Amino acid sequence: MKILSIESSCDETAAAVIEDGRKICSSVIHTQVEEHKLYGGVVPEIASRRHIESICGVTAEALEQAGLSAREVDAVAVTAAPGLIGAVLVGVNFAKGLALSAEKPLIPVHHIRGHVAANYLAHPELEPPFLALIVSGGHSHIVLVRDYCDYTILGRTTDDAAGEAFDKAARCVGLPYPGGVALDAISHEGDPHAYPLPTPHAEGEFNFSFSGLKTAVINLAHNAEQKGQPLVPADLAASFCCHVSEILWQKTALAAERYGCDKIVLAGGVSANSWLRQRAQQGCAEKGWQLYMPPLSLTGDNAAMIGAQAYYEYLAGHTADESLNGLPTMEITEQFGT
Ligand code: KG4
Ligand code: ZN
Repeated sequence: MKILSIESSCDETAAAVIEDGRKICSSVIHTQVEEHKLYGGVVPEIASRRHIESICGVTAEALEQAGLSAREVDAVAVTAAPGLIGAVLVGVNFAKGLALSAEKPLIPVHHIRGHVAANYLAHPELEPPFLALIVSGGHSHIVLVRDYCDYTILGRTTDDAAGEAFDKAARCVGLPYPGGVALDAISHEGDPHAYPLPTPHAEGEFNFSFSGLKTAVINLAHNAEQKGQPLVPADLAASFCCHVSEILWQKTALAAERYGCDKIVLAGGVSANSWLRQRAQQGCAEKGWQLYMPPLSLTGDNAAMIGAQAYYEYLAGHTADESLNGLPTMEITEQFGT
């Protein structure tokens, strides 16, 4: 079964054709990041307008690379939640029109379910159940993936998402949005013990808190400036990456032990972080657990992951009709139309 999938929930307009949830026939991503960089973050209205401009071309390119016409795919899938609502609606409306005109089933996909499914594209042997650490610009979750469409949230951030924390720390040392990647890049020339950082307390055994870390970095920067010794960006980057990776891994390992999971999956933009990947690798090797991580090409937002999850949603009967709407927020546990 070949699914044409569309993603437009933030600042990437993407389309892909995915076969049976596992094989990428084509994947096209048009990023708006250079434009949003000028403003230090994603400007929602600009994002919506750019999606409107790019979505036809990006979809045509994905179909062309797959050697198919819209009539030749078996279904159309789209990210319908969560995300910047104006941006989500561009993809939803476009997918609805396409599905209607080509007379194909329409499959709404939860964006964070998609991030988890990126792993199915890279690891043919991976099947639920497993424990997933999902860390992106808007989410930080520890989720028990019981089945392809059956999730239990064990822990989550009580304030900022991990990606937000990376971006804010990066901004403190003058790195442009989205700072997480840049912070990671310079961190390997730094000393991870140079700056002590707190571990903010979060209510709930598997929950995280990151807003205190942001304040700690701001305070470090102010104090250093007052002493006339500005922060050393590489040292701050190394200290921050090392510390956040440790927090994320410790909670993940605790949850895995408690729930008897020996398969761990990383997902979301922050799963590209080299410190987190290394910490998880080391932790899983020590425990004898199997670790699955998406390749760097699939950690950020893309439509391939949406097409992968869409296949399992379709098998479970989760299609939508022409009344489908987009939603700015939605739990990973919720189902469209219920
Ligand atoms: O999953 P994603 O592409 O978009 C959302 O769904 O939010 O995640 C974007 C986030 C940004 O905050 C970005 O800075 C962060 O992922 N990120 C990283 C790295 N690459 C991307 N954070 C730390 N280290 C990285 N290598
Ligand atoms: Zn995302």
